[in-house]
Amino acid sequence: MKGLVVVLLGLALVSAIGASPARRPVVPAMFVLGDSTLDVGNNNHLPGKDVPRANEPFYGIDFPGGARATGRFSNGYNIADFVAMHLGFERSPLAYLVLKSRNYLIPSALTRGVSYASAGSGILDSTNAGKNIPLSKQVQYFASTKAEMEVVWGRRKVSKHITNSFFLLGTGSNDLFQTKPKSQADVAALYATLVSNYSAAITDLYRMGARKFGIINTGPVGCVPRVRLLNATGACNDGMNRLAAGLAAAFKSGLATALAPTRLPDLMYSLADSFAASQANFDNPQASVFKNADSACCGSGRLGAEGKCMRNATLCSDRDAYAFFDNVHPSQRAAEVSAQALFVDGPTKITAPISFKELGEKR
Ligand SMILES: *[C@@H]1O[C@H](CO)[C@@H](O)[C@H](O)[C@H]1NC(C)=O
Ligand SMILES: *[C@@H]1O[C@H](CO)[C@@H](O)[C@H](O)[C@H]1NC(C)=O
Ligand SMILES: *[C@@H]1O[C@H](CO)[C@@H](O)[C@H](O)[C@H]1NC(C)=O
Repeated sequence: MKGLVVVLLGLALVSAIGASPARRPVVPAMFVLGDSTLDVGNNNHLPGKDVPRANEPFYGIDFPGGARATGRFSNGYNIADFVAMHLGFERSPLAYLVLKSRNYLIPSALTRGVSYASAGSGILDSTNAGKNIPLSKQVQYFASTKAEMEVVWGRRKVSKHITNSFFLLGTGSNDLFQTKPKSQADVAALYATLVSNYSAAITDLYRMGARKFGIINTGPVGCVPRVRLLNATGACNDGMNRLAAGLAAAFKSGLATALAPTRLPDLMYSLADSFAASQANFDNPQASVFKNADSACCGSGRLGAEGKCMRNATLCSDRDAYAFFDNVHPSQRAAEVSAQALFVDGPTKITAPISFKELGEKR
């Protein structure tokens, strides 16, 4: 059965490569909130030496158009870029703090969108506090972007712009990395807090006019090389995966309730089960599209996961064959495969109730 899933995902992939991306975006803009899987450079503009940043080689070594570290935790594009491409954009909108520093926030917000995603951030303000832009702050930055857009375009036009825009959200893993719940009651309390704070953030965006939400659920964090390293056999940490799967299930039911049409009319969302999508690669390495699904391409020591990905690290040569680029983050190729799965309709779809594709095209 698991083998079958992998094969089917593989087929979906083949058909995607044949299709050229839409020329015209299906939405007027894209706004991105979340963590390092989506960050395109915000953290480079945050002060503090403990801020996680992907600002030096070998990050970006395969970045299209010329190797350069852009703040993406990838050898090239990340998931936000591929989602943007599927929607018809060239790549992810630029990072909020980059746009601010170039005095280009509003032109971008009105034509392509803005990314508020920040590596290390979680749903809770307390997650890696002081070293990232937490979700609540990302929402505030969107509120100030909206106010600035209104100065230029007026309320009515901005309202229409926001209503039709695509809001991409991906967060929650860092909240799990940070906590060690001791009892079932602790776990239940953690899930309840995360669901409630996530729903609150989405509801705030809704009140500001957002209607289309593409949400990437938490994945199998127990399978990243940095966690595998803790096990002598390099196995995934089942306890951590159970915790993540439980959170993904809590988000699924919690968001269905919190975002129900009776409460938030006209809100549309697509929730992606990234657990199901990536788990296939780890359960059955032989059938995986990646030759290597347990080690970091860039790093050092055992599983490439003991040392950071930096200038003096070891870099693999066949980067598309690795599921992970550094000891936590997907390679460009893995990001491409993941993003592709979000846009698949039909029997292999990992999104509910609709796919990212349907969400993007909805009027
Ligand atoms: C979670 O949400 C509550 C109320 O909705 C808020 O008071 C609190 O600051 C939030 N906590 C964090 C850590 O973000
Ligand atoms: C390492 O992984 C194996 C296989 O999943 C498991 O049986 C074992 O308990 C793990 N060891 C530790 C220390 O977690
Ligand atoms: C790379 O350099 C850093 C210091 O800049 C050092 O801590 C680390 O151990 C080095 N890694 C390797 C693999 O030599």
